[in-house]
Parts: sequence; C-alpha cells; structure tokens
Amino acid sequence: MLSKLTWLTCQVQGTGGDELGFTLSHRPCPSAGAIHPIHLLVIDPQAGRWLRYDPVTHGLDEVITQLEPSGVLAEMHSVVPATSATLLILAAEPGKTAAKYEAAESLVWRDAGVLLGFLAVAAEAIGLNYCPLGVTGEPWVGRLLDQPGLAGVGAAFVGARPD
Ligand SMILES: Cc1cc2nc3c(=O)[nH]c(=O)nc-3n(C[C@H](O)[C@H](O)[C@H](O)COP(=O)(O)O)c2cc1C
Repeated sequence: MLSKLTWLTCQVQGTGGDELGFTLSHRPCPSAGAIHPIHLLVIDPQAGRWLRYDPVTHGLDEVITQLEPSGVLAEMHSVVPATSATLLILAAEPGKTAAKYEAAESLVWRDAGVLLGFLAVAAEAIGLNYCPLGVTGEPWVGRLLDQPGLAGVGAAFVGARPD
C-alpha cells in the first residue's frame, strides 16, 4: 500500500547539485528549489514504531526515539477516529529551505500543502482512503529527535478501503 503511494509521490528520480550542503533532488512532487525539506514519517498502528520513508532507497527506516508512537496515535484518533489507518506525519527541516531562500517558512508551508495534495491524488488513483488532518504534528515532531531543527507541518491518515 505505502510502496505504491510513496513511489508515485516521493521517490527520488534524479539528483541535482549539493552546493547548499545537501543534495537537491527531483521527485514526482515538486518542492521549492528542488530542496525537498519534508520527511515523510509513518506510524503503522500494528507495528507501533516510528518509520521514515527513505526517498533514495524507496524503503522504510526505523526512527530511534524515546517518543511513544501510541500517544501520538491516540491524539490523532481524537481528531479522526481511524484506528486501523496508517498515520503519515510531515516533518520539515526548514533550515534547508532557509539555506537558499529568504522568508523560507512560506515556501516550506507551500511544499507541505503540495505534498499533502499529491498524496491525496495518488491515494485516490490507487484506491486508498486518505484523510489529511488539520494539525501540524507539533509538539511531537519537535520532540522526536534530541537535536533541534525538525518541525511538524502536516499529517494524514491513509488506509485500505473496506471491501
Ligand atoms: C512552493 C514551491 C515554489 C516553487 N517555486 C519555484 C520558482 O520560483 N521557480 C521555479 O522554477 N520553480 C519553482 N518551483 C518548482 C520546483 O523548483 C521544482 O519542482 C524543482 O525544481 C524540482 O524539479 P522537478 O519538479 O522537475 O523535479 C516551486 C515549487 C514549489 C512547491
């Protein structure tokens, strides 16, 4: 389910320069300056752990963190009670976009909106249910790692349609 969704939206199709200190990339979903500052985090309610989509290897890597995914899921279920759905959280590194642009926040928010929209269209195309949530993912994303620099910029539930 997630493999098709991420392939259609987020996987790296080509790379650009690295003069900003990180590699620019081309992916199906556009990003201001090809910077792609937003990581896609995944919480599968069955697995009960944080995963990060790696757009280069097209795989999921475990995120080692003290932050319990069950608490975050419970908060999100109070917004939309989709208890068997997989939670997607958009975690931005705004510093990347700020390395190139002034007033970078505005571009990061637009990147987040574009990504949520791409995920919606792709989910519909492959027959998944998808529901963006009206939350940013804060304060959890900011607490995910010890080092600062990550900010929650959106969340959505995705899951199979009932037969
Ligand atoms: C919020 C946002 C702002 C963008 N601004 C510009 C822009 O000012 N000029 C431009 O050429 N492309 C702009 N783009 C497009 C990206 O630069 C483009 O998607 C990126 O270079 C990657 O290229 P690709 O879509 O061919 O993979 C923007 C995209 C987004 C999401």
